[in-house]
Amino acid sequence: MEENIEGLKNPSAATSPPLGGRGAGSSISVFAPATVANVVCGFDVLGFAVNEPGDEVVMRITNKPGITISKITGDDGRLPLDPAKNTVSVSVQHYLQSVGRTDIGLDIELHKKMPIGSGLGSSSASTVAGLFAIKTLLGDDTDPATLLPFAMKGEEMACGHGHADNVAPALMGGFVLIRSYEPLDVVRLPHPAGLWCAIVFPDVDVPTREARQIIRNKILMKDAVTQWGNIAGLVSGLFMNDIELIGRSMKDILVEPVRSMLIPDFYLMREMAMNLGAVSFGISGSGPSVFAFTRDEETAKRVTQKLQQHLTSINIGSNIYVSTINDKGPRVIG
Ligand code: HSE
Repeated sequence: MEENIEGLKNPSAATSPPLGGRGAGSSISVFAPATVANVVCGFDVLGFAVNEPGDEVVMRITNKPGITISKITGDDGRLPLDPAKNTVSVSVQHYLQSVGRTDIGLDIELHKKMPIGSGLGSSSASTVAGLFAIKTLLGDDTDPATLLPFAMKGEEMACGHGHADNVAPALMGGFVLIRSYEPLDVVRLPHPAGLWCAIVFPDVDVPTREARQIIRNKILMKDAVTQWGNIAGLVSGLFMNDIELIGRSMKDILVEPVRSMLIPDFYLMREMAMNLGAVSFGISGSGPSVFAFTRDEETAKRVTQKLQQHLTSINIGSNIYVSTINDKGPRVIG
């Protein structure tokens, strides 16, 4: 895979794919899923995709070279229509440059179907939908993982850091480990089939950029030992289908103690979720969303309902989602 990524980074090494027989006016609609990054102990290195929520991009080929964004819905006017400032168009432009296809014209509609700044990989879902749309329009049948460096450009723009733990699972589906950033080395992990995910988004503002700034940048060796023991335990549990091991490994002593302060009643919600039968509980990405793994759909539903009731009782609105792990990643929906 590294070879493919290098190939795309270098325009001269990339072959220009045809337009797949499509001409001006042709369009495609793509859905890309939300993601849970970090998975508690794996800050910046672990993430998985869920079935819902997610974002949709409609991309249309036009006669005029360059990218326009004609419409964004579901964002309450928060996202820029300027193609130089929008993560979707910027990532797509990087891709077009790398494959030597800046000659084509594109118009983009972005339909946000998930909350922005939620810790559910909102910008990643949009960016991945856009990249998967252009890849499909161009008839480029390389592995979707080759789009990763372009998707990371979008993350860099959205929050000042090009981490891959949202974009990689959004692109590839399933559970993903970022083994290394330099060089980029991404590994798809197995997971127990019966694992369910309960997600609660408390409607408070936690921008990723700020949630990254409050983290300590030096850690003690003894804390590192605890953390990498847990990461190894989680990955082992995924391979061994050992849900108990997954649960007891999902502990974070580095980031959660700081970020949990930004989430209302985080520890109380954890206690509630665990008492209701969750296997594990933690912050999704940089928050404020929280998630729990459960062994079945019923428990996941109970956890989301009870946590939502609690948040309502303290006057905080919330969105809730129940999903299995999405192994497919982005898909063409029209
Ligand atoms: N790993 C990133 C972070 C994910 O925790 O900042 C952001 O969603």
